[in-house]
Amino acid sequence: MMIPKLQIALDNLTFTDAINALKGVAQEVDIIEVGTILLCAEGIRAVEYIKNMYPDKIVLADAKIADAGKIITPMMFDAGADWTTIICCADIPTVASALEIAKQRGRDIQIELTGHWTKELAQEWQKIGVRQVVYHRSRDSQAAGVNWGLADLEKVGQLCKMGFQVTVTGGVNVEDIQFFKELPIYVFIAGRAIRDASSPVSAARAFKNEFEKYW
Ligand code: 5RP
Ligand code: MG
Repeated sequence: MMIPKLQIALDNLTFTDAINALKGVAQEVDIIEVGTILLCAEGIRAVEYIKNMYPDKIVLADAKIADAGKIITPMMFDAGADWTTIICCADIPTVASALEIAKQRGRDIQIELTGHWTKELAQEWQKIGVRQVVYHRSRDSQAAGVNWGLADLEKVGQLCKMGFQVTVTGGVNVEDIQFFKELPIYVFIAGRAIRDASSPVSAARAFKNEFEKYW
């Protein structure tokens, strides 16, 4: 199995905080995410600034697009995003148009699995050519005490078997990584576990060590 990639999520309320959070740690990660919270707080310019500052990194705009895919998707790519996210409840034409725009530009989209989705829907995404999905324990579910469990492993395993490149996110801590060790996870996202650590660099390295240990 390939070693998973590490993505830092910048869900800061200001661009200044996001940049401070990235200092020193950017070289430790493979992907930099302009989080939904940062996008709402600072707008699309956050994507533009971060891609300009880190042109060699994959930059993901976590826009969680639900509709108007033909308008919002190119906005993210024009600002410099390499990847952007479409929420799983979006209609298939929204996904298809976003995917087409991504392909034309050599970029990619991910389906954000926050909330309700079904295997049948996943089959439809696959049929139209979606490659990436993000398996997400929502921040609010996590805050309400929902833990990773066997049902998560089963669903993530099913998505991997279907051939998707699967990202896992949602309050992921270093201790959670080994729980997924049997699966070919493509990317793990860590936001607060890196940003709020006393040493974000050590926290990012601890994630990478776990990846090396188990994959
Ligand atoms: C919330 C998100 C976050 O970016 C994702 O959950 C990662 O952040 P954290 O590791 O802090 O949970 O998309 O909707
Ligand atoms: Mg996010």
